[in-house]
Amino acid sequence: MSRQRSLGIGLLGLGTVGSAVARTFAERSRHLDLAAGRPLRLVAAAVRDVSRPREAGDVPITQDPFAILDDPSVDIVVEVIGGVAPAHDLHLAAFERGKHVVTANKELIAKEWDVLHQAARLSKRQLRFEASVAAAVPVIAGARTLGASHPRAVRGLLNGTSTFICSRMESGATFDDALLEAQRAGYAEADPTSDIDGLDAAYKLVILVRVLGRPAHPDDVQRTSLRGTTLASFQAAVARGRTIRSLAIAELDGGRVRARVGPEEVAAASLEGGASGPTNVVTFETDLAGTLTFRGPGAGGPATASAILGDVIAIARGGASMTGA
Ligand SMILES: NC(=O)c1ccc[n+]([C@@H]2O[C@H](COP(=O)([O-])OP(=O)(O)OC[C@H]3O[C@@H](n4cnc5c(N)ncnc54)[C@H](OP(=O)(O)O)[C@@H]3O)[C@@H](O)[C@H]2O)c1
Repeated sequence: MSRQRSLGIGLLGLGTVGSAVARTFAERSRHLDLAAGRPLRLVAAAVRDVSRPREAGDVPITQDPFAILDDPSVDIVVEVIGGVAPAHDLHLAAFERGKHVVTANKELIAKEWDVLHQAARLSKRQLRFEASVAAAVPVIAGARTLGASHPRAVRGLLNGTSTFICSRMESGATFDDALLEAQRAGYAEADPTSDIDGLDAAYKLVILVRVLGRPAHPDDVQRTSLRGTTLASFQAAVARGRTIRSLAIAELDGGRVRARVGPEEVAAASLEGGASGPTNVVTFETDLAGTLTFRGPGAGGPATASAILGDVIAIARGGASMTGA
């Protein structure tokens, strides 16, 4: 390994994703150092409730995010709190202090793309968010390789809860039973509104469109809730060799972007029709590169930690700026 100085990482959030990042540091530190080409050190993690028991290795825990942001030994801030407040202000504070930011926070990136990218540019630091769309599946990295092509459309299954519910309904479960099952299996939140009504997928779709260089905002995505899809419509689709999935689709026609999320029929034998849980499927249709499809685990602590640490390693290796500048 080279003799470059070590890089300090500070975690904001130590829930499902943050704990998986901390455990990965604890379990394979040497492997991460080799991949990064220099030592990586997990300095500390900020949480809301320090008394909560957690499986997160032996990372020091604080209740004050600014203890991490103001620590000169922290070079990269990994924000896995989620939502807009206080994450938005914490991102800006990190850039003001000259830190790079890595996040899985799709809502914040989708809503505040311009502000965050400008802050990253001004501070000459990187903002990376591979984990924010399809977790471990490298769709953001993939989209960034398409700069020479004219992308015509991006479509996919971007929400595991909806995919799980659709796969259960095609087997005869009612919407309510399928949702209950998704909650019991740990796919759906106690409040599944964001998944069922398409907001979560809309955030991810917006990020993909922005990475492809087109304008987009979550408010402009037309959303149809999965709640209105009946068992009868699934039965009718299945009888025709088809099924229903909640699809996120953006059609990129010249300068115009038309984006929608909601239940649509797909071929039962397709990758989308065959997906049954947290598996995400993302397809780019382009002129030069033809049709490119990515598929893999789009949720869960370890899969999301994989993408986050991939971003950390890219920064450590001095990868090109990902601010979208
Ligand atoms: N879970 C997934 O599979 C997945 C996949 C892809 C992307 N993501 C994204 O990753 C992010 C994190 O998701 P998650 O599932 O890990 O969430 P989570 O389990 O709810 O964890 C959130 C963490 O943030 C901490 N927190 C909340 N408010 C805070 C504050 N004001 N200051 C400091 N810490 C605070 C919480 O502290 P306490 O522990 O003390 O409550 C908790 O540790 C979200 O943006 C989510 O959309 C998640």
